[in-house]
Amino acid sequence: MNFTFCGDEVPMSFPDGFVWGVSTSAFQIEGATREGGRGVSVWDTFCATPGKIRDGANADIACDHYNRFPEDVALMSDLGVDAYRFSVAWPRIQPTGRGGVNVEGLDFYDNLVDALCEAGIAPVATLYHWDTPQPLEDDGGWLTRDTAERFAEYAAIVGERLSDRVEMWIPLNEPMVVTLFGYALGEYAPGRALLFDALPAAHFQNLAHGLAVGALRATGAKAVGTANNHSPIWPAADIAEDRQAARHLDAVINWMYADPVLTGTYPEEVIPYLPTGFADDLSAIAAPLDFYGVNYYEPQGVAKPVDGNPLPFVLRPIEGYPVTTNDSPVVPDGLRQFLGTIANRYGDALPPVHITESGCSFDGVDDRQRIEYHTEHLAALEKAIAEGVDVRGYFVWSLLDNFEWSKGYQPRFGLVHVDYDTLVRTPKDSYHWYRDLIRGTR
Ligand code: NOJ
Repeated sequence: MNFTFCGDEVPMSFPDGFVWGVSTSAFQIEGATREGGRGVSVWDTFCATPGKIRDGANADIACDHYNRFPEDVALMSDLGVDAYRFSVAWPRIQPTGRGGVNVEGLDFYDNLVDALCEAGIAPVATLYHWDTPQPLEDDGGWLTRDTAERFAEYAAIVGERLSDRVEMWIPLNEPMVVTLFGYALGEYAPGRALLFDALPAAHFQNLAHGLAVGALRATGAKAVGTANNHSPIWPAADIAEDRQAARHLDAVINWMYADPVLTGTYPEEVIPYLPTGFADDLSAIAAPLDFYGVNYYEPQGVAKPVDGNPLPFVLRPIEGYPVTTNDSPVVPDGLRQFLGTIANRYGDALPPVHITESGCSFDGVDDRQRIEYHTEHLAALEKAIAEGVDVRGYFVWSLLDNFEWSKGYQPRFGLVHVDYDTLVRTPKDSYHWYRDLIRGTR
């Protein structure tokens, strides 16, 4: 297979049956936050809190995907993707997070899944992309075991309705981000700034994952996996203190989510912060998986702690690389590195991998930098596969420009441009490039 890049043919090969996909999430695209019986989520509350979101934006309309999903499915059909990864909004299914089911919410996703199947696109459903029903948060949210148990009930409800057609399930998206930005630093909903006292939220999300795997399997789920955000951790200098800081950050960012799920253990650095009785949950958390989903964006730099800082490390920006409009460094080889690391770390315990998100924010419809970004990341991925990592799919983040959390609508991650005044969708150059790439593999 050849890709065209800057007028040159770039030869690449991916295994037969490799899945080409796109990803989105409910809160970032659906809008219609008060339609269809949906309850309030922590992100609605966070957006309504002054000063939390750039430009005071909210996701009340976003891309209005809730009302325009047939148009978005048609865009994907023209794009020719094999699979579409979307998320189900928990407060659409259970407006208060427990008990009563909102049938209108289930119907929405049922219709979406039907439309995808009719278009020959495999539905890949994430059950939680950060939009916890507010009443559960009011009762402690992910700092409590109860939320994990409620999540398993919710997983069973959605599984009952959709397991016959959904090809791949992902219980939680990036629990690390919820723990770190939502509970430790307070930059994302629910806006708690608990530092290391946030780590029980990691454990109860891991438990929610494990319980949901069981609940989904009981409904006949075809395949269940993860979507964990991972970054290679780079010590600022090759000195013992920086390497020690890197080990600590690696534990908190990467291994605290991958180890329990794949091996039923936690890295020793985080054990002092886990809730009482955590060890009894490990076998549930380590329920066998069909695939391991990696969301890759960038490496993270780190240095030894400084006096007066309560953390055992200091984050350092990665320098010397081009950056996106979101200030993320573009480091394609970080993807290859990370995949090699997990292949070594887990061996046979690592199921086939999918890149459940890869993407960048750049402006404009003539988005040559996005084409360059994906070409380079796919080249890195191809190398990882050649080095022996079993990778089965690549999902571009994102189909559409969308609500980028606390950064509002400024960073644009889509293959399709969205005009937020008119909601008109315009495919970008990268959309056409991805379409040609997918066609070339057939
Ligand atoms: C990962 C998250 O899953 C997604 O919601 C977010 O928009 C992208 N990263 C880009 O920051």
